[in-house]
Amino acid sequence: MIRSRIIATGSYLPPKVLTNADLEKIVDTSDEWIVSRSGIRERRIVEKDVATSDLGTQAALRALEMAGLSPQDLDLIITGTNSPDMFFPCTGCFIQAKIGAKKAAAFDVSAGCTSFIHALSLADKFIKEDPSRKVMVLGAEIMSKVTDWTDRGTCVLFGDGAGAVILVGEEGERGILSTHLHSDGSLWELLYMPGGGSANPSSHETVDQRMHCIKMAGNPLFKVAVRALADVSQEALDYNRLTGDDIAMMIPHQANTRIIEAAARLIGFPMDKVYLDIEKYGNTSSATIPIALDEIQREGRLKAGELVLLCSFGTGVTWGGAVIRW
Ligand code: ACO
Repeated sequence: MIRSRIIATGSYLPPKVLTNADLEKIVDTSDEWIVSRSGIRERRIVEKDVATSDLGTQAALRALEMAGLSPQDLDLIITGTNSPDMFFPCTGCFIQAKIGAKKAAAFDVSAGCTSFIHALSLADKFIKEDPSRKVMVLGAEIMSKVTDWTDRGTCVLFGDGAGAVILVGEEGERGILSTHLHSDGSLWELLYMPGGGSANPSSHETVDQRMHCIKMAGNPLFKVAVRALADVSQEALDYNRLTGDDIAMMIPHQANTRIIEAAARLIGFPMDKVYLDIEKYGNTSSATIPIALDEIQREGRLKAGELVLLCSFGTGVTWGGAVIRW
């Protein structure tokens, strides 16, 4: 049986730290409110002249170094992002050019914070079609440039960063066991960015109304998110005839510690096996899971053969999960 195995990881967080104390100077909020409602203490923010592909490029180079591969070895680059460099060309093409992956096809996936799991699912299918392929999957985001810095309900939540993994086809038991993808587009108004697209092309009016920033109905989204994370986690376990006891680590999308705790409680999954780094980086959208994977890999926190459960939700609304034998 050929499986798609993650052979290397990389991540990049911009050096500039924005703490909750810094935010107290920008909007009417407090460290106590942000930590108790979301679990976030600080996040990383890019400088003005940095684009999403710059973060992706650094993460990609780190993953290539770990894999011992050159950029020309890559056949495909799939980038999950909701904050692309430009509408077109895709951010993956910028990354391809910046790292010099001349042979690789590149395209982006836009499915909210779930984009990384969607991209991983696609990579798995491309590898199953031709196991000789070497595929890079990224999540890369600059959320700080689509954030409304006057809206305390959203500006405290998001951060910038990128993560990358490299997958190859391998005979054996290790690798992606399954992926599970879902959407409910009728819930789009829970989280969206109305300006700049064909519905509301950029104009003085769209800029004046801050339509190029995140609009979010936090509380209703919270409830949908808990259900989505719990359901897709249970679905992934059931599909593989596993229980929580079989899983060494759950790596959820890092949007809010309370969402993760509530979802884990619903399926009876112990929090001591849930990976959390949200307090350092906030919600980096589609980058949260690959950043976490890189931290875990570099710290040697997973042994070969252990089972990992990924789960995510995001704008759309989309949600997805995956089980990987590490
Ligand atoms: N500081 C202080 N007070 C605040 C802040 C803030 N930063 N933000 C909101 N408040 C106030 C509200 O105005 C409200 O005041 P009111 O009662 O006087 O009206 C009060 O706090 C409670 O607000 P709620 O929205 O009900 O608070 P809640 O407990 O739901 O927490 C939060 C808000 C953290 C946004 C939560 O709803 C949440 O995390 N939702 C999901 C958000 C999310 O995950 N988004 C991304 C998902 S997809 C992706 O990752 C791209």
